[in-house]
Amino acid sequence: MEAQIAVLAGDGIGPEIVAEAVKVLCAVERRFGHRFEMKEYPVGGAAYDCCGDCLPDETLAACKSADAILLGAVGGPKWDRLPVSQRPERRALLTLRSELGLFANLRPAKVWDALTGASPLREEIVSAGIDMLIVRELTGGAYFGEKGRGDGGRSAYDVTPYSVHEIERVARVAFEAARRRFPQGGRLPKVTSVDKANVLETSRLWRETVTALHAAEYADVELEHLYVDNAAMQLVRAPSRFDVILTENMFGDILSDEASQITGSIGMLPSASVGVSGGGLYEPIHGSAPDIAGKGIANPLATILSAAAMLRHSFGLGAEADAIEHAVASVLARGLRTADIADQGGASVSTSAMGDAVAEAVGVVI
Ligand code: IPM
Ligand code: MG
Repeated sequence: MEAQIAVLAGDGIGPEIVAEAVKVLCAVERRFGHRFEMKEYPVGGAAYDCCGDCLPDETLAACKSADAILLGAVGGPKWDRLPVSQRPERRALLTLRSELGLFANLRPAKVWDALTGASPLREEIVSAGIDMLIVRELTGGAYFGEKGRGDGGRSAYDVTPYSVHEIERVARVAFEAARRRFPQGGRLPKVTSVDKANVLETSRLWRETVTALHAAEYADVELEHLYVDNAAMQLVRAPSRFDVILTENMFGDILSDEASQITGSIGMLPSASVGVSGGGLYEPIHGSAPDIAGKGIANPLATILSAAAMLRHSFGLGAEADAIEHAVASVLARGLRTADIADQGGASVSTSAMGDAVAEAVGVVI
């Protein structure tokens, strides 16, 4: 197939990790005979420096017309003093999410077989199995609600609005994903909907809406509700109890960082942001990590796995996505580690050596 991918490397470690994902996509092109037209566009602080805008018009237009977007990371201390509306996180990332209508963010968190030792949790907790998908609402809630200051700047507010429509469409993504995770019907797939319905009105609407949708259309899926504080506790106490977690924007931001740590490293977690149209935005869940930028030590696997998610979700290329995921599993099984996932005192490889190894493994037909 032919597809157009807008490549947005961004800031900090963004260019280093995106280069490795591009390398792996080229290996997929060669092995499977596809053609991905990968064009780079400026975004984030880097775009501010070159074009005076963290999301230049040309970049937004290219993202709208591309079949999918591969993003590294944006932001860094250099741009922290820009007015809030112009900062990379707000201007580039949140605008991209809302302009492209990417209302559902899929963040799978699992412990890779070769990395069980990297989890900070006790072995008996990890061996029960950690493999979950967090479905985070991405274009609503406090991130996009009205915000401001009162009292001469001495008070502040961030409104957290949610509508039935916004809750239903993301809940549908979670229920559908749960069904897909157990296609053979071996056991009932489960969705855990996370809210704070004992305190927040938006959470009460969330719970009512999810419950009604479940009863009307997804009775074959198990549904449970947890308060967010309890969910945060269960994630470290008994992570194997989770299958699909459905939650609003801010809770999803927090819980997905927590989930990443129990799997060993935030450097391993990919994400897919999808919306009404087929195209989506694929990015690691970690940030630009300015402290290690330019050193060639960042873990490119979250970005490489995000590229795999792109092939699967946006292009329907399941076998190609599997090839990347198997390649990652095989290089990990061979003992290759970047610094973040290396055993204490153990050897580690560079960002590009890890990318080379995965690209090479993709090329090997098993
Ligand atoms: C994430 C990030 C972003 C978010 C930041 C950079 C705005 O933490 O994608 O999880 O909060 O959504
Ligand atoms: Mg986050």
